Amino acid sequence: MEKKSAIVTGAYGAIGGVIAAEMAKQGYRLTLVGRDRKKLEKMAETLSKQTGNKDVFYRAVDLSAKNEVERFAQSWEGPLHVLINNAATTPRSRETTSRGIEQQFATNVLGYFWMMQYFYPFMEKVDDARIVNVASYWAGDLDLNDLEFESRPYDNDTAYRQSKQANRMLTAAFAKRLSDSGIAVLAAHPGDVRSKLSNNLGHGGWESPEQGAANPLFCALDSSLKGISGKYYEHKRETPCRFAKDSDAVEKLYEVCLKY
Ligand SMILES: NC(=O)c1ccc[n+]([C@@H]2O[C@H](COP(=O)([O-])OP(=O)(O)OC[C@H]3O[C@@H](n4cnc5c(N)ncnc54)[C@H](OP(=O)(O)O)[C@@H]3O)[C@@H](O)[C@H]2O)c1
Repeated sequence: MEKKSAIVTGAYGAIGGVIAAEMAKQGYRLTLVGRDRKKLEKMAETLSKQTGNKDVFYRAVDLSAKNEVERFAQSWEGPLHVLINNAATTPRSRETTSRGIEQQFATNVLGYFWMMQYFYPFMEKVDDARIVNVASYWAGDLDLNDLEFESRPYDNDTAYRQSKQANRMLTAAFAKRLSDSGIAVLAAHPGDVRSKLSNNLGHGGWESPEQGAANPLFCALDSSLKGISGKYYEHKRETPCRFAKDSDAVEKLYEVCLKY
């Protein structure tokens, strides 16, 4: 039987590292995605050795750059069963990408958006295909008129909370659009884990990376969720999401992202 394939972004991060290790252990044909080729190479080697899974690959992609995501998708061969959007960033001062897009919006929001947009075609004929967007309970203050902090003063916590709200809204937007294709799109809060990302926000983190990875892995792998889409999970429980309920705002955000 052919192996199922999976992509994990932010694969050498605190939570992504544990997600990737479990996906390798589960026998997926796994592609690790991040920016640093050396870290990816080392991690792929380590995971292969640890798990005996010879099909652990890597791809260096700057997810804040649409052309890099597009190029990655153009080189993809075969079906894709699981996509885990996990990479995110929290720079302390306002930074922009080479295309001039505010960094958190580009990476944490458009990065997820472009990965879904370019990779869902590979998931269409797959049984129980799943996209998991690693989001957060720490979310809010999304301003559709100022997504890039051009009018508001930049504050990395506000920009981060906005981006995690957007992840949950775009989960609903894609779930709606992909409902006929059978591809499930779920949002998952991980846990409060010490990482580069959380340290930048001034949080220490009180859960282990393993605890943090448990809920995203549940959303990606648990057979009880087959056929469920458009939902948000915390601690392996479906949790009401007020952001996803505002369908006007969800549609507006989707349309804005599409224009980038
Ligand atoms: N930690 C928490 O307490 C917590 C709580 C709730 C939700 N989350 C969510 O969990 C996810 C993982 O966070 P984490 O705490 O594990 O953070 P982390 O350790 O800082 O990992 C983030 C990963 O994303 C990668 N990344 C950042 N920008 C990228 C880009 N432009 N292109 C490709 N890769 C990029 C980073 O690579 P580089 O090191 O090369 O930048 C890193 O591997 C995030 O979505 C976060 O919002 C975390």
